[in-house]
Amino acid sequence: MKSDHYRDFFTAENLMGPNSIRLLDELLTVCPPAFTRTDKVLDLGCGTGLTSLFIARETGATVYANDLWIPLEVNRDRFAAWNMQQQLIPVHEDANCLGFQKEMFSAVISIDAYHYFGGKEDFFADKILPLLKPGGVALIAVPGMKNVYDGQSETLTSPWLGDEAYMFQSALWWQKTIGTHEKIESVHTWEMEAFEQPWQEWFATGHEYALDDLQYYESIIKPYTGFVGMVIRKK
Ligand SMILES: C[S@@+](CC[C@H](N)C(=O)[O-])C[C@H]1O[C@@H](n2cnc3c(N)ncnc32)[C@H](O)[C@@H]1O
Repeated sequence: MKSDHYRDFFTAENLMGPNSIRLLDELLTVCPPAFTRTDKVLDLGCGTGLTSLFIARETGATVYANDLWIPLEVNRDRFAAWNMQQQLIPVHEDANCLGFQKEMFSAVISIDAYHYFGGKEDFFADKILPLLKPGGVALIAVPGMKNVYDGQSETLTSPWLGDEAYMFQSALWWQKTIGTHEKIESVHTWEMEAFEQPWQEWFATGHEYALDDLQYYESIIKPYTGFVGMVIRKK
């Protein structure tokens, strides 16, 4: 896996949850990109920009690394330290009101972030679809429920997630919520293969949030949850 080459980056400083690079690697394997430097990709909810680094290096695209919680200057300095300032453009905007030009991006990619803002009917059609070029693609990975526990997130995960439990939904739910539109070619959602490794690599960072998650791994995370992959193609 290409993601193995990034092991040195799997630290408490860079990761913000289960290893996002493993999730991204699976999405790019399912949907291999063919980008050049002139292609623009939006990494939506990029966090520290580790996923943006992977996208830039592995696809060659120019990446707009957008996040809400991490200040723009912090990511700008990090990208310079990685010597990637030519290819990684830090942006600080709320996904609910993005100011990018229409049809600017060949792809919108979002790892472990879309569930914070995208779980509303029409969100994809109203906010994301207009940003994609004709023929563009959205690649999304979120934590969620296994399909067999569809609709049971609040009952089954509240001891771990508290009032954020509603954000964990199944692949079936996301398929319906992304919805249909005259400009959407196809929507494919699935339960991702990646599971044990991204979690174990998160725990291995020793991050205080990782140690908290670890307490719920056997009782809640492993039996009921997984990661949901989504590939949405624009006509
Ligand atoms: C768990 S972190 C994941 C970060 C990164 N994608 C990764 O996988 O390492 C979730 C990210 O979603 C971002 N986020 C949450 N709500 C957002 C919003 N409304 N607009 C933009 N980003 C948002 C946060 O800023 C945070 O960095």
